Amino acid sequence: MSDLDDLFEAAKAVREKAYAPYSNFLVGAAFRTPDGTIFTGCNVENASYPVSVCAEGGAVSAMIAAGYTRIAEAVVIGDAALCTPCGMCRQRFSEFGTKDLVVHVADLDGIKRSFTMDELLPAAFELKDE
Ligand code: THU
Repeated sequence: MSDLDDLFEAAKAVREKAYAPYSNFLVGAAFRTPDGTIFTGCNVENASYPVSVCAEGGAVSAMIAAGYTRIAEAVVIGDAALCTPCGMCRQRFSEFGTKDLVVHVADLDGIKRSFTMDELLPAAFELKDE
C-alpha cells in the first residue's frame, strides 16, 4: 500500500469511532508528519453544539500532544458528501502545514478531490513573522 492508501485507511477506520448523534455525519481525519508518523481524529459532538470538535481538530490535538507540529499530508473523510474542512479547520491546517500542504477529501470509496492549502485558505491569517 502507498503512504496515501495508509492515510486513507487510517481516516476511514477512525471515522467509525466518531461520536455524532446530533448530525449523524461521521468524519475521520488522518495526518502524516514529515517523518511518516500518522495521527487520527474523529468528530465528537456535544448537546451544547459549539463544544463539538471536528475530526481535524481531534487529530491536531493528538499530534501536538505527541510533540509534533508539522502536517505533511492529510486525508479527511465524510460519507457521500464532499467533506471539505470547515473554516476553523482550514485555519488549523494553515498553522501546522504549508501553502503546499495537500488535503485529500474522500468518501467511503476513496479520495475524490485534493486541494492545496493555498486553494482552501488563500490569504490565511498569520501571526508569525516567517
Ligand atoms: N465535521 C468535521 O468533523 N470535519 C469537517 O471537515 C466538516 C464537518 C463535523 C462537525 C459536525 O460534527 C459534523 O461534521 C456535521 O457538521
